[in-house]
Amino acid sequence: MSDNTASPTATDPQTAIDSQSDRRRDDLDDRIFAHSAGDDQDGVPFVGAGPGNPRLLTVAGKELLEAADLVVHAGSLVNSDLLDAYCGHADLVNSVGKDLEELVPLMRDAYEDGRQVVRLHSGDPAIYGAALEQMDALEHEGVPTYIVPGVTSAFAASATMRTQLTLNEVSNHVAFTRPQGKTLSEDEDHISEFISMGDVTTCIYLGTHAVRDTMDRLLADGHDPETPVAVIYHASWPDEDVLIGSIDDIADRVEEAGYRASALVVIGDAVTGAGYERSYLYGDWANRGANSPD
Ligand SMILES: C[S@@+](CC[C@H](N)C(=O)[O-])C[C@H]1O[C@@H](n2cnc3c(N)ncnc32)[C@H](O)[C@@H]1O
Repeated sequence: MSDNTASPTATDPQTAIDSQSDRRRDDLDDRIFAHSAGDDQDGVPFVGAGPGNPRLLTVAGKELLEAADLVVHAGSLVNSDLLDAYCGHADLVNSVGKDLEELVPLMRDAYEDGRQVVRLHSGDPAIYGAALEQMDALEHEGVPTYIVPGVTSAFAASATMRTQLTLNEVSNHVAFTRPQGKTLSEDEDHISEFISMGDVTTCIYLGTHAVRDTMDRLLADGHDPETPVAVIYHASWPDEDVLIGSIDDIADRVEEAGYRASALVVIGDAVTGAGYERSYLYGDWANRGANSPD
């Protein structure tokens, strides 16, 4: 494919990222006040593909993909049905295994040649997407960029589970988190603290391979072994699978199913959707006729 022959010359990505960060510390970007999410903008859009089902792509994302000449996508995390449905005419490049030194010149050169370039991330680019470093490196090369949001996998998971992540009197907060490992040190893993809070629904990304370690740590920290846990594999994909259990037994279920990646782990009482109270929004005050607030 011609795009793979892009010139490798670009500013060192780390230098570009550092200089963009410095700039951002000093000045707000004018575009913040000129554009809203969902607007058409100049440059390379970083589009959230959503969790998998092509129907869960936004309208803006669909339009951009349909007009694209080059789509750089996140490999197996993006459903190939979505690529088939909307990118049939475009050159496709899988970003997996490519570093910034390769990706940035590839996208820059295509953009400078007048081609419509889309960078397609799974779910929403703002969640564990590593989008900003690519955007900064491109901006440093003079290529404007912007984000088009997508449905993050936690929202697909809660829809599949037919529950809410926040639920009156059950869960007042949501944590999007990941377990310790290569990226996060032991001290930076806050899963146990979120569970201790009692009213947090904890959504663990990038943790399918570490379910047993995570649950063992929670048990060692004295958490109730019966605390509900759901593992949603490939939420919204044709092979979606939902495993329901508790801190005590979910690791056995995940190992039995053989999942090592591509699942979301949800911990907390909101998993069951039981025990909630009706909300103030639809509370009794709404039935007070003329005196009810607007
Ligand atoms: C690199 S992160 C990207 C997350 C993505 N930006 C999002 O908003 O969903 C990849 C992790 O997201 C989760 N994930 C992505 N798509 C998923 C899906 N369809 N079902 C369940 N989990 C998913 C998995 O935990 C996977 O390890």
